[in-house]
Amino acid sequence: HSADAFRTDLMTITRFVLNEQSKYPESRGDFTILLSHIVLGCKFVCSAVNKAGLAKLIGLAGETNVQASCQGEEQKKLDVLSNEVFVKALVSSGRTCILVSEEDEEATFVESSLRGRYCVVFDPLDGSSNIDCGVSIGTIFGIYTVKDDGEPALDDVLQPGKNMVAAGYCMYGSSCTLVISTGGGVNGFTLDPSLGEFILTHPDIKIPKKGKIYSVNEGNAKNWDGPTAKYVEKCKFPKDGSSPKSLRYIGSMVADVHRTLLYGGIFLYPADKKSPNGKLRVLYEVFPMSFLMEQAGGQAFTGKQRALDLLPTNIHERSPIFLGSYDDVEEIIALYAAEE
Ligand code: AHG
Ligand code: MN
Ligand code: MN
Ligand code: MN
Repeated sequence: HSADAFRTDLMTITRFVLNEQSKYPESRGDFTILLSHIVLGCKFVCSAVNKAGLAKLIGLAGETNVQASCQGEEQKKLDVLSNEVFVKALVSSGRTCILVSEEDEEATFVESSLRGRYCVVFDPLDGSSNIDCGVSIGTIFGIYTVKDDGEPALDDVLQPGKNMVAAGYCMYGSSCTLVISTGGGVNGFTLDPSLGEFILTHPDIKIPKKGKIYSVNEGNAKNWDGPTAKYVEKCKFPKDGSSPKSLRYIGSMVADVHRTLLYGGIFLYPADKKSPNGKLRVLYEVFPMSFLMEQAGGQAFTGKQRALDLLPTNIHERSPIFLGSYDDVEEIIALYAAEE
């Protein structure tokens, strides 16, 4: 390692993806263009999130009045703003044909003059309960290609997660980190604000085979099913002589999954008696995160099957999810198998 204060050979996300795409001679650079529009959305949201605390004081659009929001000048909510930014960035890329966003009831079909081959499913701002206290939030996305040359239809996005060509998230935390997989492993990039570029900082992320952390909203424990309850009990009172696991739960899926990916362990949002399908959405929460976990050497399980095998029938469908280190998810799979 050199002691130079400056690295001069920077692997930006664009350079990285161009390198990857050059392995496919048929590639026409469409994916690189699509990704650069997603990156633009992430940068915009990152900057809006960073100003969010300040906006209360000085106003985002330059209004100097603390009272702005009391005078009907209400700032656009950050999740609505993020959605608008991503929809516009994705449509204007000219590379998309169907968009599914958590914030929009209906899928968006891109007008024919701007239409491309990619379908993008996304959660523009995940972890919304953490916005007002400045805790980490993120954006999650998954990318499919249309099934055929026919007129785009909803079943182009109602495909199992294993058909995704790419998935990722951007975490707006102490730094802005973009983690992505195009099916050949997982790589993490950190935004250098002075350059406005995402630089490769976490090459080829592999999740530890077993972890020491479990992550779940234990407030729902009263309504859990047998296997989930047994698993969490095992985390706290292991009977095999191992140490109990630590509990970490932020309540932003992006942040909880990011920690799980880097440190290992398990993240679960199980079914319960009140929500038999759990809370998290299949297309733009469960699938992208499951895709990344598998690509990093971990597993993702719904309580019934491999998460990426699920065939969604509705764009906002939910599913229970258990994902993380290979060995930890293996334990929950065994507990569900023993139930049958
Ligand atoms: P969103 O903010 O996009 O609606 O998603 C919130 C999700 C997810 O980020 C998190 O894992 C989960 O809600 C937390 O739910 P609980 O508050 O029920 O624990
Ligand atoms: Mn979400
Ligand atoms: Mn959201
Ligand atoms: Mn929401």
